[in-house]
Amino acid sequence: MPVITNIDDLKRRYKRRVPKMFYDYCESGSWTEQTFRANSSDFDRIRLRQRVAVDMTGRSTASTMAGQDVAMPVALAPVGLTGMQSADGEIKAARAAAKFGVPFTLSTMSICSIEDVAEATSAPFWFQLYTMKDMDFTTRLIERAKAAQCSALVITLDLQILGQRHQDLKNGLSAPPKLTLPVMADLATKWSWGLEMLATKRREFGNIVGHVDGISDTSSLGAWTAEQFDPRLDWDQVKRLMDLWGGKVILKGILDPEDAERAAATGADAIVVSNHGGRQLDGAMSSIEALPAIVDAVGSKTDVWLDSGIRSGQDVLKALALGAKGTMIGRAFVYGLGAMGEAGVTKSLEVIHKELDTTMALCGRQTVDQLDRNVLLLPPDFGRTHLPASSL
Ligand code: GLV
Repeated sequence: MPVITNIDDLKRRYKRRVPKMFYDYCESGSWTEQTFRANSSDFDRIRLRQRVAVDMTGRSTASTMAGQDVAMPVALAPVGLTGMQSADGEIKAARAAAKFGVPFTLSTMSICSIEDVAEATSAPFWFQLYTMKDMDFTTRLIERAKAAQCSALVITLDLQILGQRHQDLKNGLSAPPKLTLPVMADLATKWSWGLEMLATKRREFGNIVGHVDGISDTSSLGAWTAEQFDPRLDWDQVKRLMDLWGGKVILKGILDPEDAERAAATGADAIVVSNHGGRQLDGAMSSIEALPAIVDAVGSKTDVWLDSGIRSGQDVLKALALGAKGTMIGRAFVYGLGAMGEAGVTKSLEVIHKELDTTMALCGRQTVDQLDRNVLLLPPDFGRTHLPASSL
């Protein structure tokens, strides 16, 4: 078997192993995918300053996120349908994260339920909340996360309606997949995935099916979001949800300094600069380019984290050097999960850790706290390639 040395190796293996419908779900951005592409290509515009003759012994990537000790400031982001990428995928990812010493976040739109993950793991995990029109159901989700002793609530702010990803509509994305002819032809080449999937009972949206009535199609992410997600979500509602939870809160999906100010004013423990991996507002700025202005606006009031576009430890380092106190990875761990299950998630984390650690050393830094903007060489227009039209 070829040696795996980077995240792309895992992605190639993932693509061969997992049904096209779920690969496409992971790998798509919305509409033209401009933002999806910019999330990665804008990392590539940043260069690193090589520094030499600096003692690089005793290095450490250890840090804290939301008051929790972490082996490196990289949490697993909430990803819908993770249990369709590999049977019981959320449990496998949570176990790998706990062993590595980084947080795992369970999505509302997961396949394994909150209770499934709590029962199968011992370390506390985080729960990501989508708010529903049915406030009783939202309240019950919060209560269930409390009962499972989740240690933080991640409230997603950028998905009251679902961005259109063309492939999901063309593929008829659903969990479990509907056995149409093209799906069956594809599954015939993905038998190891199928055998594992037949061996688990968890093939539906575990937090939803059996917990709520009156949904036209419980297998469809598109139908569920259109019928149930609450388009009225506003800052007052965010505050109510935070009060209901009463514990650590992370607000995810901020891309604008004005929204960052509102988010910081809620007293959240951290905010995540994110455009949902380029899956929501196509044409929005990349996360990494949006980061510096947000750090400048609110970095002294709350911890600013970043997701969207991270595929390497070098990307993590660039985000930290621009002022993020933490990062989240989605696709980068899903590739590993789809390729090799729990061992693949561990591999993703090992790859990213090694890249972060080696890059720190070659930039002459021993700890992640020492990473600052002096480590980076930026194109002169970085963070200013697009200015608010009102400033013209
Ligand atoms: C969210 O659930 C997504 O598909 O991006």
